[in-house]
Amino acid sequence: MKSFTQYTQQNQDKEIISGFSRLPKEEKLKLITRYFDHPEETEEEFQSFWYPDKRIQKLFDEFSENTISNYYFPYGIAPNFIIDGKVYHIPMVIEESSVVAAASKSAKFWARHGGFHTKIHSTVKIGQVHFTWQGDGKKLQAAMPEMKARLIEKVKPNTANMEERGGGIIDIELVDKTHEMEDYYQLKTSFNTVDSMGANFINSCLEEFAAELKKYVMESSYFEGKEKDVNIIMSILSNYTPDCMVEAWVECDISELGEIEEELNGEEFATKFEKGVKVAKIDKYRAATHNKGIFNGVDAVALATGNDFRAIEAAGHAYASRDGQYRGLTDLSIENGRFKYSLKLPLSLGTVGGLTNLHPLVKKSLQLLNNPKAEELMRIAASAGLANNFGAVQSLVTKGIQLGHMKMHLLNILNAFEASEEEKNKAVEYFKNIKVSYSNVADFIKALRNEKYSSES
Ligand code: MEV
Repeated sequence: MKSFTQYTQQNQDKEIISGFSRLPKEEKLKLITRYFDHPEETEEEFQSFWYPDKRIQKLFDEFSENTISNYYFPYGIAPNFIIDGKVYHIPMVIEESSVVAAASKSAKFWARHGGFHTKIHSTVKIGQVHFTWQGDGKKLQAAMPEMKARLIEKVKPNTANMEERGGGIIDIELVDKTHEMEDYYQLKTSFNTVDSMGANFINSCLEEFAAELKKYVMESSYFEGKEKDVNIIMSILSNYTPDCMVEAWVECDISELGEIEEELNGEEFATKFEKGVKVAKIDKYRAATHNKGIFNGVDAVALATGNDFRAIEAAGHAYASRDGQYRGLTDLSIENGRFKYSLKLPLSLGTVGGLTNLHPLVKKSLQLLNNPKAEELMRIAASAGLANNFGAVQSLVTKGIQLGHMKMHLLNILNAFEASEEEKNKAVEYFKNIKVSYSNVADFIKALRNEKYSSES
């Protein structure tokens, strides 16, 4: 192991900071900006992203730890989604260009063809107490009915509120995993957390269960000797939520797909699209990208509504590997002249608790969606995911995605040159049929500005 001195010698430019978390925010910022070439300007730049209203800034500071500034993401709207017959203008928070445009384009097409349809399959969430215990598993199993009643009784103060809202603990089962690890068992608990994502609720219940399990086994005269010893490994919710499932789909007559690409009739488009979807089912390299396109939409809605996109992704990718191979999450059926494209996804979302009543823009997102219950938000997020994926596969199997991306890419490059509106309009026109690259745009802007300069002088 390296000594502290060896470590700092190898990292000459930065020293170990002790007590960083205890410093006031202003001092943290000063300390960090010392590492930049122009500390004072850098400090000002970080400060320029502080929210002017101190009360709101304090909220942001307290979402996380050791905060020195805010990091802004674009907040966009994908309008005109019809989901189960209702119109939604969906808020999406995402930094990647073309995602909101792709979602909007798909929404527009499907709004003319019946919209998105959804179904909630289930809303059960799982938490586990992992522990080791030495003895006959059957004996432990036999004690479960009494143990379960005790565990449920123990967390009554935690569950009362949730039960009032229609949720709570659904079941606790003992899972014998001794064939996979010596003495390893789980208390696998299923929860209904209604409109909250429920992480804190689930984890609090589980930690209480763990303590009570130890106590029960220790105190019970039914167990003796080494059987009295329960060793808790950990107590934590599972982000794999295959019992918290939503399905979204779109469908139309194949002939209607003829509207999508000028040069393809409906049948030709459907055949190309089908192959594209199949590739993602067969090949994991393509599947990861296909699913990434789905999460472009799902995560953007999750972020806009204050949900944990890492948890959502973890569940989705685990589900995508459920048969042992990672596969695309969408399914296509072409039958009797009908095209039906669907996405089934485990999606644990909340519309109360967490950031939902703290972050000012999260509140606005939820208001824009008419303050949905968690199930409705699952339907919306899944539809956005399907819309993005439909848009991506549509482009990929026809013109390719670069054409659409390039317009945004062009605007980003033009912004880097601080192009005026007039210059941007000229550039968009010029690059309609010319390859967009940084050097091409640089040459174009240079020529344009030279031309202007010589005509003015
Ligand atoms: C880019 O963010 C997402 C896509 O790569 C998705 C896909 O390939 O299906 C376009």
